Amino acid sequence: MERGNFGSKIGAVLASAGSAVGLGNIWRFPMECGSNGGAAFILIYLLCVFFLAMPVMVAEFVIGRSSRSNAVGSYRVLAPGKPWVVSGFMGVLAGFLVLSYYSVVAGWTLDYTFESLTGSLMSESDFGRFFSDFVSNPWRPVIFLSLFLLLTHCVVATGVEKGIERYSKIMMPMLLVIILILAGFSMFMPNAIEGVRFLLTPDFSKVTKDVVLSAMGQAFFSLSVGMGTLATYASYFNKETKLLPSAIGVCTIDTLVAISAGFIIFPAVFSVGVSADSGPGLVFITLPYVFQEAFGSVPVFEYAFSGLFYILLLLAALTSSISMHEISTAYIHETFKLSRPKAATIVTVICLVMGVACSLSFGVWKDVTVMGRGFFDLFDFITAKFLMPLGGLLICTFVGWDMNKKLVAAELDSRFTSLLMILFSWVAPIGIGIIFVYGLISG
Ligand code: PFF
Repeated sequence: MERGNFGSKIGAVLASAGSAVGLGNIWRFPMECGSNGGAAFILIYLLCVFFLAMPVMVAEFVIGRSSRSNAVGSYRVLAPGKPWVVSGFMGVLAGFLVLSYYSVVAGWTLDYTFESLTGSLMSESDFGRFFSDFVSNPWRPVIFLSLFLLLTHCVVATGVEKGIERYSKIMMPMLLVIILILAGFSMFMPNAIEGVRFLLTPDFSKVTKDVVLSAMGQAFFSLSVGMGTLATYASYFNKETKLLPSAIGVCTIDTLVAISAGFIIFPAVFSVGVSADSGPGLVFITLPYVFQEAFGSVPVFEYAFSGLFYILLLLAALTSSISMHEISTAYIHETFKLSRPKAATIVTVICLVMGVACSLSFGVWKDVTVMGRGFFDLFDFITAKFLMPLGGLLICTFVGWDMNKKLVAAELDSRFTSLLMILFSWVAPIGIGIIFVYGLISG
């Protein structure tokens, strides 16, 4: 079967960066940072990115490019008959689970984009009530979730170069421009310097074991590693694409976007004097107050600023959801020899059904629980605490210990191969192993 390919190196890096940059950077990072002490969290996060998550990314690139196959098929090519293939299946399962709950939050974002642009969001007076009424409604979030999945479906079904690469090349630069405009705006708000100080002055008294754990979990989620997503993308890289510099590029873009999201949100939050520590509601409840407070006297600015912010969040979510969809689509397309649109349709339908269950767990199915959790929290728990760290551990261990050393070195083609081998074989597996076990023990 003819395989798709990214037509250019820059397309490959932008698509991978598109996978990495998402709700994790703009919604989850500021929320984690706000609840875990600001600058100290950022420092620990950076260590986790460069010592734990980046090695997994490079290992995924090595697996994908050398096998030229999907998340499961790659182990069948590189280690036939060995049990590593389980890690591929875990990745496909994680792809379904994450995409289902991720699309729910992306659907909220789509709704907020419409409501901002039409002006109805800003006419609200109680955003907390507005948000909880919205997410617990049985219909509205489901409609927006379906629309979002349909958008994702259309890009993936169109193919690797004409769909994923082309749209990443358009959306990623747009996203970067919007971030710069918004951060510029925020930093000039009165008293914004307080927010900048919060982001730049570390308070190590806030650092506990849980903060370290959250930072590691955030690094994995944000860089999309541990599920075979980036291995799938790397199977479309051409031979000229250098794996280590590409991984460094993706990690740098992802980290800059996360920190810039902090520079959009915290100066604005401090400027209007609301709490930085408001958890998941930061983007959907606190920020609308910030927009209202900051620009209330000039409604055009209010609509423009909030509209632009939610468009940014939407674009970021879309380039990530495309990559999660691609893990399973590529697997089904190549294993069962179905056409790409048919494979994509199967994935979309399954995720829609699971996504509806996640969405309803905020309302009518609030009391339907498995292991004490509603579907949304359950899927998040299984993937973030179990499948992603275990997947990352297996991926590094495979490349560090079992994969043919000459093949790894040829793929890496780098002066830093020995250093990378130490990271794959020792540093990353031990570090990730500790998070994994601690995460399980602490529930
Ligand atoms: N990295 C994405 C984000 O930060 O929003 C989320 C994600 C995408 C996780 C793809 C996992 C994945 F395979």
